[in-house]
This record gives sequence, structure tokens and C-alpha cells, in this order.
Amino acid sequence: MTYTIILKVDWKKPESSKIKAAAEVILRGGLVAFPTETVYGLGANAMNENAVKRIYEAKKRPLDNPIIVHVASKREIIQLTKEIPLKAEKLMKTFWPGPLTLVLNASNKVPKATTGGLGTVAVRMPNHKVALSLIKKSRVPIAAPSANLSGNPSPTIAEHVKKDLYGRIEMILDGGSTNIGLESTVLDLTVDPPQILRPGGVSYEELLKVLEKVEVHPDVLAEKRVSLDKVPSPGMKHRHYAPKAEMILVEGTVEATVKKVQQIVNFHMRNGKKVGILATDETESLYNADVVKSMGTRADISMVARNLFRLLREFDEEEVEIIVAEGLPFEGLGLAVMNRLRKASGYKIMKVS
Ligand code: TXA
Ligand code: MG
Repeated sequence: MTYTIILKVDWKKPESSKIKAAAEVILRGGLVAFPTETVYGLGANAMNENAVKRIYEAKKRPLDNPIIVHVASKREIIQLTKEIPLKAEKLMKTFWPGPLTLVLNASNKVPKATTGGLGTVAVRMPNHKVALSLIKKSRVPIAAPSANLSGNPSPTIAEHVKKDLYGRIEMILDGGSTNIGLESTVLDLTVDPPQILRPGGVSYEELLKVLEKVEVHPDVLAEKRVSLDKVPSPGMKHRHYAPKAEMILVEGTVEATVKKVQQIVNFHMRNGKKVGILATDETESLYNADVVKSMGTRADISMVARNLFRLLREFDEEEVEIIVAEGLPFEGLGLAVMNRLRKASGYKIMKVS
């Protein structure tokens, strides 16, 4: 058992004494959870192999799943990479700091624990004052996966981190709720054309404004669990974002979706199950179930993204046994939302029209 210190920090103007205390933990090889604009990260000194190994332990994360390295300036990625392609320069200029992670060829200075032994390294500059000041104060790049137990939905408030990791890490910096609510986009620049390995905060459409061509890895929209060998991003093959409840996702037109969701709910309620619905503002009032929660309005998918992981955790708290979720359009942030919903459902998808 590790003693976990929880410090509330001002996300607009992080208190320097608190950032200093957190940086000291990082430099001693300890683990600090901190907010970013996407989700909370669990940070360690990326250049300290033993510190990074402790991340895997604390999260119970499979050892072959590499970790994103967070930097506070572009200069820092020189020591982490073999070369910085022109496309990377362009993307950094447009999207950093922000929710875009770039996979580049790794220099041999990056410990194996950080790269998962892949020969590549994933780097990103978060757009959050607490994250940036922690990296600057530590003067080392910080390796940080999402600060949840492996397999759980990523944390969007410090309370989620506490629930999963209290007693397993040295410190939690509580900077309130994260803004985007879904993880960064992971873009592989070691292949041509660049390939989206995980959709996230920067959309495919936005990337296309900077790059001539972008591919979406076929597993991103997999409708079945992807095969266990030959995935470029090990995170793809692990069960993810999953609530404890069984989840069923219904995809199709709004009208047909509402009808099918209610049918599935009725079936399970008749069998005595506690059933929840993941709805939208437009449809919420049309349903009958034990629990109905709205992800937000269909007119603003960024609201849906912000609420999704919190709602999945709430269903578990309320001991809902079956969750039936509405699918949404795949445009913009919708691609990331649908990727998470499909994974969370374990690919139990029903299509209606
Ligand atoms: O928004 C985010 O990206 C958050 C915050 C904390 O920055 N971090 C995050 O990390 O989501 P994590 O570890 O939960 O997800 C990182 C994903 C995994 O799917 C992993 O397999 C992939 O990125 N990844 C990391 N390094 C990679 C590499 N060298 N090549 C391919 N995929 C990589
Ligand atoms: Mg994660």
C-alpha cells in the first residue's frame, strides 16, 4: 500500500508549491496523476525505466502496451526520436499543445518500458496548465497513460482516479474535470500515408486540412474484437473503456434506434434485470427504463464526448446490469465516440434502419 496524497490545484493558475511537490515525486521515481485537456494521466519520469515499470504495476496494465510521452516544448522530442519528419513539424505547429499524439521512430535513449519495445515512441504536448507546469518543473518528459485501472473507462475527474488508484500511487493533482473527456488522437507517422491508430480529440477531418492523405486503421471501427497478433498499437487489442455492466449498442436512424433500444430494454426488464439507457437530449424523454442518462445533445458531439466516460462509471455505481446505448454519427468527434462505444459494448452491436 502506497500513501496517496491528494492536492487540489487551480487549473487556471496552478500553485507553484503544489507543482513543486509533484515534480519532486516524479524525480524520485514516483507516480503522480494529473489532469490534461483530454483525460487524467498517470505520470512517471519517461527516462527512468523503473519508474515507468511502476505505472504498469499500479494500473495492472499489460506489459506490451507502450505509453505516451508528454512534453512541454517541441525541443524535448529531439532526444526522444531518431528524426522529426516534415509532416510532424506541420502537425505540431497546428495542433500542439493539444489532443494529438504522434508516433515517431524512437531514439535509443527511451527506455524499453516506455516504448513497449516497439522501436517507436508516441509523443504529445498536452493543452493544460497543470500538465505543462508539472513537465516544466520536473525538467523531464513524463510518460503517462490514462490514470485508470487497465480496462476501465478513462478518468475525467480526480474522483475517478481515486476510485481506481488510491493506495497505489504517490499523488493525485485534482484540477477539476477535463475538458474534452476522450483521449488524444494517436497518429502513426512511421507509415505513409499517416495512419490513425486511435481516433480522439483531433478529428480525421481536421487532420485532412493539414495532411494530403490520412488513413484510418481498419481496427478503429472494428465491429468484432480485433485479432490478437499484428496490431500496430497494442492498445487496440485489449478490452477497454468497459463498464462492469453488459452493454449493447444500437446503430441506425434516430427513429429506428429509439424503437429498438426500448424493445431491448423491455426484454431485459421483464427478466428482472436493472437496465439503463445511454440516450441523448433529443430522445431521453421517450424512454422507460430503470435509469436513463443523456450523453448530451446530438447537435454538439463535444458534449457527448465530455460526458461519456463519467456516465459509464455512474451506471456501475448505480449497479445497473445492462446498458443499452444509442449510436451516433461518425463525423468529427463522433468517430472517437463510436470507437469507444463499440469497444465498451464488447462489440455487441445491433444495426437498425
Ligand atoms: O489523451 C491521452 O492520450 C491520454 C492523456 C493522459 O494524455 N493518454 C492515454 O494513454 O490515453 P493510454 O496509454 O491510455 O493510451 C495510449 C494509446 C494506447 O492505445 C497505446 O497502445 C498507444 O497509444 N501507443 C502508445 N505508444 C505507441 C507506439 N509507440 N506505437 C503505437 N501505439 C502506441
Ligand atoms: Mg488508457
